[in-house]
Amino acid sequence: MISLRSGRRVWVRPVGTGDSECVQAFVRGLSARTRYYRYCSALRELPASLLDRTVQVDGIHSAAFLAMGEGSGRIPVGMGEYHAERDDGWCEIALVVADAWQREGLGTALLSALESRASVAGIDSVEGFVLRDNAAMLQFARNRGFAVGPSERSAVSRVAARAPGLVRRGLCPGFPHWRRRPHRPRAHAAMACSPGRVR
Ligand SMILES: CC(C)(COP(=O)(O)OP(=O)(O)OC[C@H]1O[C@@H](n2cnc3c(N)ncnc32)[C@H](O)[C@@H]1OP(=O)(O)O)[C@@H](O)C(=O)NCCC(=O)NCCS
Repeated sequence: MISLRSGRRVWVRPVGTGDSECVQAFVRGLSARTRYYRYCSALRELPASLLDRTVQVDGIHSAAFLAMGEGSGRIPVGMGEYHAERDDGWCEIALVVADAWQREGLGTALLSALESRASVAGIDSVEGFVLRDNAAMLQFARNRGFAVGPSERSAVSRVAARAPGLVRRGLCPGFPHWRRRPHRPRAHAAMACSPGRVR
């Protein structure tokens, strides 16, 4: 259990294949703005392909976590996922916190869970793609030691960090936060906000 800033408590658990319904309910319950910032699209619910991608994770190349609010039933209050497309030590992350639970430290807790899982899986570098007007996520990323730079799409910024968890915990002093990922076309886009998927 994690205590948030307000005193409300959550627990973070891995997504399972039986979670399609509650993930979909979570996405439907987000405000249009929060959904837009997460998925870079005006979708109201997840298309089957994106839903499957979220719940069918192997815990190594991809993982997803749900935050469950104490006393708030079966619908999650936050979700984070990463997908590693290639064995080059990089993964792409995405986070979303229910509107009524934002700014309490839950996004930070989900990011930590993702970074820990990725690190166990041998992934040491994290990137994400964020709409340029998404001030909350850009500030969030900067505060977590991510570098913010351009992406292949002008409306989207890339946030990236190498070994972010280790650097923050002082276990990797002097380790460069940023390295340019060698550009290789993606086999398929990992997330709705990936350069290839932004509409
Ligand atoms: C971005 C998001 C995941 C952050 O989650 P959160 O639980 O609110 O984040 P936290 O409470 O852990 O915030 C950590 C820090 O991020 C920054 N931050 C978060 N929300 C912010 C906001 N609205 N404005 C400015 N800074 C913000 C702050 O520095 C904050 O620390 P502080 O509260 O001590 O000042 C959440 O706002 C969200 O779900 N947004 C919509 C979806 C989205 O944009 N996803 C990103 C696409 S990958």
